[in-house]
Amino acid sequence: MIPEPAGASSHAWAAIAYRPGQRSRDNDRFGYPSCMGKQEARGAGSGGEARGGGGVSLREFAADVRAGLSKQGQRELPSKYFYDEVGSALFEAISVLPEYGLTRADERIVRAHADEIVSRVPSPAIVAELGSGSGRKPRWILGSLGRREPAVYYPIDISPAALARCEWELSRIPSVRIIGMLNPYLEGLKEVASRRKDGQRILVLFLGSTIGNFDRPVGEQFLGQVRSALLPGDALLLGTDLEKPIPQMLAAYDDPVGVTAAFNLNLLARINRELGGDFDLRRWRHAARWDEQQRRIEMHLVSQERQTVRIPRAGVEVSFRQDETIWTENSHKYTPDLVASMAQRAGFRCEAQWSDEEWPFAESFLIAISPDPSR
Ligand SMILES: C[S@@+](CC[C@H](N)C(=O)[O-])C[C@H]1O[C@@H](n2cnc3c(N)ncnc32)[C@H](O)[C@@H]1O
Repeated sequence: MIPEPAGASSHAWAAIAYRPGQRSRDNDRFGYPSCMGKQEARGAGSGGEARGGGGVSLREFAADVRAGLSKQGQRELPSKYFYDEVGSALFEAISVLPEYGLTRADERIVRAHADEIVSRVPSPAIVAELGSGSGRKPRWILGSLGRREPAVYYPIDISPAALARCEWELSRIPSVRIIGMLNPYLEGLKEVASRRKDGQRILVLFLGSTIGNFDRPVGEQFLGQVRSALLPGDALLLGTDLEKPIPQMLAAYDDPVGVTAAFNLNLLARINRELGGDFDLRRWRHAARWDEQQRRIEMHLVSQERQTVRIPRAGVEVSFRQDETIWTENSHKYTPDLVASMAQRAGFRCEAQWSDEEWPFAESFLIAISPDPSR
C-alpha cells in the first residue's frame, strides 16, 4: 500500500504516487491470485524488484508467463496482466461499447440504490473497493455517504493507471477523502481493516462482475477470505453478471470494432514490451467462447499458424500448433439464487438484491455474519 504523507491532500499525493511503473515504499509484495482464479494463491515477491507498466513485479510476471505457457495441454496466462496502462485504457473503451451492457447495468443499479445501500450501513463507515478500476461506479455511493458524514474511500487495484484515473474521477466528491492502495485485493483489504477506528463499519465494493473471473470454487473461497478480513456487521456489495442469451453474451466479449480483441492481444504486446518477447501479433487472433457446462465466457488467443515464440526475460521458448490457444480469461455467469447461496457459504447473509431490466445483472448487498460456533 502507498503510505499517506502527513498533511498532503490526497489528490496531490496520488498524482505523485501512481506514475506507471513507479514503486511505492510498501508495495513490494504482490501475489494474490489473479482475477482469473486459474492460478494458486502464492507467496509474495521480495522487495527491490523491477516493475512493469502494470505495477506488478517483473519477476512475478515472468514466473507466471513461464508457468502458464509451459503448461502441458491448455496454455494460459493470468488475466490480471491485462491491466497495464494500455490495457486499463482499453478496458475503459470496452465499458462504453454498445455490446458490453454490463458496466452500464452495474452503474444504473448502483446509482438508483445508492442512498438505500448507504442507509443499510451503520455510521460511521469507510468504503473499500476491490479492483476499483477507474472508479466510475462508486461515485453515487460516495456522494450519498459524504452527505451523511465525512468518509474515507480506499480504492484497491494493482494497476497504477487505473488508480490514478480513479483518483481523478472521484476527487471532487464533498467530504470524501480518497486513499489509493496499489495492492492485490486481499492485501489491500487487510490493510484497510487494520486502519479502521473503533466502531467503524467497512462497506466493501466488488463490482463489475470481477468475481466472475475466478473459477467458481475459487470465487467462493475468495469471498470467504474477504469475510475473514471483515467483522460481523460489515457489508459487501457484490456485482454479478447474469445469464442471458448466448449470442448476447458472446457479442459482449467479441465486439465488431475489435476493442476486446485489442484488449486481449495487448497481453502478448505487454509480454513483448516488458519481458522482451517476440510474439508477432498478426499471427494471433482473439476468440470468445461460451462453455455450456461451466456457464462461462472464455477468452482465448488463437495461433494462426505453427510458430515458435521466445521470451528471454521469462526464460522460455514455446512452440504453438496452428489453432492452438492461450486461455486468458473466464467470465462466469450467475443467477441471483446462486449468488445468495455462494455468499451464504462464504459467511455472508444476502440482505437485498437488485437487478437491471435492460441487461440482466445483479447487485447483492451482503452482511458479514458471525461464524457458526457449531462448525
Ligand atoms: C474488470 S476491471 C473492473 C473495474 C471496475 N471495478 C469496474 O467494475 O468497472 C478489474 C480491475 O481489477 C484490477 N485487478 C485485477 N486483478 C487484481 C488483483 N489481483 N488485485 C487487485 N486488483 C486487481 C484490474 O487492474 C482492473 O482495474
